[in-house]
Amino acid sequence: MENSAPKDLQKVVELSLNYAKSCKNTGKVASYIPELENVDPSALGIAVVANNKKIYTAGDCETLFTIQSISKTISLILALQTAGTEKVFSKVWVEPTGDPFNSMIKLETKTHIPLNPMINAGAIAVAGVIDTPFPFASFLELTRKLCNRDDIQISEKVYLSEKASGDRNRSIAYLLKSEGVLEKDVEEVLDVYFKMCSVEITAIDLAYFGSVLANDGVNIFTGERLIDNSIVKIVKTLMVTCGLYDGSGEFAIDIGIPAKSGVGGGIVASVEENFGIAVYSPKLDDKGNSVWGIKALEYLSREMKLHFFAGAKINEYY
Ligand code: DON
Repeated sequence: MENSAPKDLQKVVELSLNYAKSCKNTGKVASYIPELENVDPSALGIAVVANNKKIYTAGDCETLFTIQSISKTISLILALQTAGTEKVFSKVWVEPTGDPFNSMIKLETKTHIPLNPMINAGAIAVAGVIDTPFPFASFLELTRKLCNRDDIQISEKVYLSEKASGDRNRSIAYLLKSEGVLEKDVEEVLDVYFKMCSVEITAIDLAYFGSVLANDGVNIFTGERLIDNSIVKIVKTLMVTCGLYDGSGEFAIDIGIPAKSGVGGGIVASVEENFGIAVYSPKLDDKGNSVWGIKALEYLSREMKLHFFAGAKINEYY
């Protein structure tokens, strides 16, 4: 017999949306890339891809927004797939910084090798080692597969806006070049980085990606292995330790799910062998993470006992 309420997942997803919206949203839409301001600040979308092969959604789950820093997980996967672990980890480390995502202070005070691939410096270093003839085309192809949608595109407007306002990233990249971390032409690498950040996705797309991560690299709908499990392990571990920048520790304690955020307002999360979850809401806290998105994830984690140390009984929802 099928379980119904109170273990009805669709209901829980809807309640997570109501809960998030009942919380005061003190965040601000990112404006340092001017084009990112052109969004509905009150949008909130939630999507869950479950291992029973059903998708549960609420709110603005089909609204397009740019992937931004969530691309850092996909570019890392691509770099590991094409250049290999040794090459990638000669250019970037795997330690949390405790600093904002666009900080470059530790490149001077600690190590000229970026501390992890989830911050801008690390992602620029990673973009520089992707070993295919056309790195952005390879990135787009992989993103389409991971998100299970073959017409995912770049937002030309956001890309141009990123490029025009990207001087901080430019300074990081030139510093990396001067230290020999970047081997390729700086503007060429930055162009790939800006394009990757500007790819437009929805919460549903990202929930599919979360599901691939939850299933050790396999798309449960097609059975196709998209990522080697050794790479999935690296990416999910980095999501836990660095996925929400200098908010990662608090997120790990409160919510306890591997996740990655972006300044577009998205967060992708992955619950082992069970759920890919994504949220979208563009108002961000002072660390660059979606305020309502975190609230919705907090509700889901609490209600469904998804925290990695909470002893989830997830099959109650199937
Ligand atoms: O490079 C940047 O600043 C943006 N394109 C991406 C930053 C980002 O998403 C950080 N996220 N929270």
